[in-house]
Amino acid sequence: MEFPAYRPRRMRRTETLRRLVRETRLSVDNLILPLFVVPGKGVEKPVASMPGVAQMSVDRTVEECRQVRDLGIPAVILFGLPEKKDATGSHAYRDDGPVPRAVREIKQALGNDLVVITDVCLCEYTDHGHCGVLAEGEVDNDATLDLLAKEALTHARAGADIVAPSDMMDGRVNAIRETLDEEGLDQVAILSYAAKFASGFYGPFREAADSTPQFGDRRGYQMDPANAEEALREVELDINEGADLVMVKPALPYLDLVRRVKEQFGYPTAAYQVSGEYAMIKAAAQNGWLDESRVMMETLTAIRRAGADLILTYFAKDAARALNGR
Ligand code: PBG
Repeated sequence: MEFPAYRPRRMRRTETLRRLVRETRLSVDNLILPLFVVPGKGVEKPVASMPGVAQMSVDRTVEECRQVRDLGIPAVILFGLPEKKDATGSHAYRDDGPVPRAVREIKQALGNDLVVITDVCLCEYTDHGHCGVLAEGEVDNDATLDLLAKEALTHARAGADIVAPSDMMDGRVNAIRETLDEEGLDQVAILSYAAKFASGFYGPFREAADSTPQFGDRRGYQMDPANAEEALREVELDINEGADLVMVKPALPYLDLVRRVKEQFGYPTAAYQVSGEYAMIKAAAQNGWLDESRVMMETLTAIRRAGADLILTYFAKDAARALNGR
């Protein structure tokens, strides 16, 4: 049909008309809130570059999780900052670390009302800030696998529902799956950061997680932003190794891949709206240059429209409030 018979504006005249023909539904069910757990008690330390985000001790984290549950958000993902860092990130697999402790306490308080996902990586735990152990100044892939599996096992034993490896070592999904299965934890799922790019948008996160590499960068293991076909191979590998859910990260600059991953594999697909994506919107809003809540909903809707089933976002609570208020 052509103009003047077809007039698309007819169905845009009122909000109720627009609701009738809206194609993409963003729901609270799609949201996952990242949290940063630190040692201590009663600690709530704001992250300067991420307004509204704070590092929290276990007790505060549990309180935060109650709010998250009350807002109807189904899941959180936990990042841990250890008491001490060393060359092999040994605190990553200590049972008394912030993450396992938080998992146990959240599960005790909220049971199955909240899905607890844990980020599995060494960069928060190593003194050099890289995502694995070093050999001759490079991250040693195969030597890192055992440590990641140990970390995932520690989280799973504490009661994590899903473990999420974000390190980008080759073969880590397989290593984690085998270890969990051997230990009788075959019901713990794996959300793989399958297509994770070496991105400038992680800047603020490295303040939040205290995980800035002390030398070099992560381009030796994270993906080149120019590569889409390779991203699909990464996703396929992780699915073949046993990933239950796959992630594309960051989100907004990589929506083409969110779409392609969803279409090609049909797996539950997550997209991570990362710290820099969040900080850009917050900073512009603080300057009065953007309408924060409008842009928040627009970006989340766009990520959903591209095909993401799960969206990891620091806006989760604000978005849930906006969605619940409707
Ligand atoms: C750890 C990890 C990072 C993020 C999630 N897990 C940082 C990195 O790879 O440098 C980034 C999340 C964000 O920016 O919000 N490997």
